[in-house]
Amino acid sequence: MAVLGLLSLTLEIPDLEVGVRFYSDAGLVAMVEGNRAHMRCKEQDRASITLIGGAARKRLHHIQLCAERLDEIALDVQRLGGRVTEAPAGFDPEGLWVLDPHGMLFHLCEHPADNELAVPSTPFEINGPGRIVRKRRSAILPQRNYAPVRPLRLGHVLVFTPDVMASVEFVTQAFGMGLADRAQDIIAFTCVRRDSDHHVIAFAKSGGVGFHHASFQVADPDEVGRGGRALLAKSRRGDWGFGRHTIGSNFFHYIQDPWGSWFEYYSDMDHIDDYVAWTPTNYGMEDSLASWGPEVPHDFVHNYELDGEPFSREVVIPTEAV
Ligand SMILES: [Fe+2]
Repeated sequence: MAVLGLLSLTLEIPDLEVGVRFYSDAGLVAMVEGNRAHMRCKEQDRASITLIGGAARKRLHHIQLCAERLDEIALDVQRLGGRVTEAPAGFDPEGLWVLDPHGMLFHLCEHPADNELAVPSTPFEINGPGRIVRKRRSAILPQRNYAPVRPLRLGHVLVFTPDVMASVEFVTQAFGMGLADRAQDIIAFTCVRRDSDHHVIAFAKSGGVGFHHASFQVADPDEVGRGGRALLAKSRRGDWGFGRHTIGSNFFHYIQDPWGSWFEYYSDMDHIDDYVAWTPTNYGMEDSLASWGPEVPHDFVHNYELDGEPFSREVVIPTEAV
């Protein structure tokens, strides 16, 4: 094993206050230090997203991964067309800083495992035909009983790349990750090799590198729906969901961020406990986005980090519609 999991991502953005507001509305906790904001899940003691304010436009800065055997990874990185590089100014010089063949920056570092997530006191149970598991209690309570949804942990990121299969080759060969599934050479999903969500880093084809979305696990499908609607009511930009993916099987609701990329709440993703026992599937494009869900927004897979007009859509959703 080499890469063991996803720790965080760092974005450059124009306005730090706007970024802090969006991710706070999504349920993350902010710690602001100068022109940086560290956004963490409430039950974790480390940031899942770091924002750097003052940029001309939104841009993926780097992805931080938890890894072991960094010396061996450094050798494989060079062999596979990547480059070991210096830490950017103001970032931790420890660990291994890697540029992939497309110029995407990764920070690999040794990091203790996160605490196990707490088991919910009220399990999510579905009564089905011939299978009654919830008796003598209501599944849904009055609105006032629910606290705002808080993400539990960062599960995965989806990034743009000019060559999906080359990016897969790099993270599987240099970082020791595994191809979970793909849809042709348009989108691919990679996992770590033990006790992994179905995907940890996913790649979508574009004209260049960029950040598409960060996805946060919540307790159950109701929290996906409830969290998504609440964030949409505050952000009032685009959204996609509630729906269910084919690849990874997770329930999803995506909310567009202030820069045209996306924040995803997810629940019930497929789990790969041992990659050796997993067989990747190459899906048709009809399965690449969802098994079911609303119509996909026109710019859902648009890379606003490429040259051209940056995302500038202001309020488009009337409040009463949310
Ligand atoms: Fe996702």
